[in-house]
Formats: sequence, C-alpha cells, structure tokens
Amino acid sequence: MTGGAGYIGAHTVRALHAIGRPVIVLDSLELGSAAAVLDLPLVVGDISDEALVEQICRDHEVDTIVHFAAYKNVGESMKLPAKYFHNNVDGTVHLLDAAVRAGVRHVVFSSSCSVYGTPASVPVDESQPIHPESVYAETKAIVERVLHWYGVVHGLESVSLRYFNAAGASFDSAIGEDWTYALNLIPVAIRALLTGDQELQVFGDDYPTPDGTCIRDYIHVDDLAQAHIAAIDYLAAGGDSTAVNVGTGLGSSVFDVLRGIERLAGRPVPHHVVDRRLGDPVSTFSDPARSFAVLGWQPKYGLDEILSTAYRWHVAQLEGPAGPG
Ligand code: WQD
Repeated sequence: MTGGAGYIGAHTVRALHAIGRPVIVLDSLELGSAAAVLDLPLVVGDISDEALVEQICRDHEVDTIVHFAAYKNVGESMKLPAKYFHNNVDGTVHLLDAAVRAGVRHVVFSSSCSVYGTPASVPVDESQPIHPESVYAETKAIVERVLHWYGVVHGLESVSLRYFNAAGASFDSAIGEDWTYALNLIPVAIRALLTGDQELQVFGDDYPTPDGTCIRDYIHVDDLAQAHIAAIDYLAAGGDSTAVNVGTGLGSSVFDVLRGIERLAGRPVPHHVVDRRLGDPVSTFSDPARSFAVLGWQPKYGLDEILSTAYRWHVAQLEGPAGPG
C-alpha cells in the first residue's frame, strides 16, 4: 500500500489488518505519520524508487497494490503544476513499471470525483464526461488513463475509485485527519470552533442552492476503506478494469455541516462569509448505484457519524495522550 501513512491510507491499512489481510506500507512520511500505521510493517521510501518497489513486491509476494500516495492540495497544484505532475503522474509510472516487473497483477487507485470537474448533472455517475478543472484533478485523470494502457499492454487490472469528499475519523479516535495540512471544510470548521485561532471562511452563500452554500457528498473514511477492500476482492475474483464513484449519494451544504458541528459542540462555529472560491462546483454528489452493482459495496455512515467521529478525534488530539480518550 503506497501512502498508507496518510489519512485514507491509514484507515484502509487498519481495515485490512482487522480482517487478517497481510499488508506492507510504502510511505515517504513527507505528509503522513508513522504512528498512523500503528504497528504494521512500514517501509519509508518513494514510489518512484523502482528498485525499492520491485524489491518490496518480490520479497512480500505482493499481488495487489493499493495506491494512495499523491499530493492532493488543489490550490497548491494550481501554483506548482510540476510538483504535481512529477509526483502524482511520473511517480506512478515508475511505481507501475516496477510492479509489472515484479509480477503484481492488480492495482486499486485512489482517484477523485474532481476528475469530472463541475459535473454536467447531479447525481454524478461514471458515464459523465471527464474534464478536470485543476492540475490535481488532471493528475488523477491521467493516471486513470495510464492504468488503462498498462492493462492493455501488460495485463495489469485496476479499479480507480473516484472518491467524493472523504471526512470523519475512526470510531475509537485512534486515527483521523491531521488538521495541520487540512484545508477541507470539516477539519477547518472544527479547528475554528475548538481553538478559535481563526474563523472559518465560508466561500460564498449566494449559490443557487436551498441555503445559498455549496453542496458536497461527504463520505466517512471508514466507508471509503471498505470500498478499497471490496475493490481488492473484485479484482481477485477476476473483475475487469474499471472506474467507480465512491460516495453516499447524499448532498450536504456547508451550512448543514456547520449546524451539525454546532449541535455536537453546543456552540457555534466562528465563521464569516467571503467571496466564492474559484473552481467550486455549486453542487456535486454521487450516484452510488455502480459501486453497489460492481463492488457490492455501500456506505454505512452518514453526516452525523462523520461529524461526531471527526469532532471526537480533534478533541482527543487537543487533549493529548494524557487527556481522557
Ligand atoms: C467543501 C465545501 C467549499 C473550506 C476537494 C477536492 C477533492 C477532494 C476533497 C481529494 C466547498 C467549502 C471549504 C473552507 C468553505 N480532495 N469550504 N470554507 O473542494 O469539495 O473537494 O477536497 O481527493 O478532490 O477537490 O472540498 O473541503 O475544500 O470544500 O466554505 O475553508 O466547503 O467551498 O463548498 P472540495 P473542501
């Protein structure tokens, strides 16, 4: 598993370990933390180090690579495109070349709903046109195409999981999203409420939606982890290469999220409304039909569990190891 020390990676490592699947993690620890991998085998290195990747795959008889490792900051990608194309695209090509040489047969790829850009219509299904609106999203769309051709030429079968908005934390607050780097709504809103060090900026409340704020499909990170296991099993059972949306099919507005956090904390999220953010789709949420039909997967959790697990995780982080769990 590449990037297994990251947010979604760590939850997936834990879910695989919980059902007794052998896992080895490759992570540069540039943005992840070794603690997130708990006591599972971790190799610190880069996906573009072909000799290292090939050695790991041979030594551990890897048959499936779950590929999370990537830069994912949309705003940064629009300032530093080379950083994103080198790491997310070129790094993946090196990874796949080493994997093919080592006899790896399956890849589950961490893609993103942002490959659709502003969706033509909602709910979004996999037949919708791919037109990325950021360098980050473009790198995800390119890697999907690279995987297609590695399937045609090398017989490497893959599932690209197009995540909607990953959020939440583990139910025991053992792992969750590190708000240090997070720019996403839920960690930023909870940080504003818990620390008060900066108010949440709401990027526009003049959209053509019921409450004027943008709508997104927030999916619990543990549901996402299960979708990766379903994709691994689908390929192991001989499934053909494909791309699948992974979301709940339910849309929540920014104010829905703030109200949910306020209900948990018993006090308001300090925020103020500013101008719209460039590139924000008004509304995007998934059509979950195919994820169930192809992978037999469906989400178990909704916005309440996402917000309550995220809130408890961030409170626990603030209290530190000495504080009550
Ligand atoms: C959610 C909503 C903002 C922050 C991105 C990527 C996507 C995936 C998830 C990686 C929007 C609003 C946010 C803030 C706000 N990443 N917002 N104030 O942009 O939907 O998706 O992250 O896979 O690929 O595109 O997520 O959390 O940034 O925004 O008002 O400080 O919250 O306008 O409506 P987004 P987000």
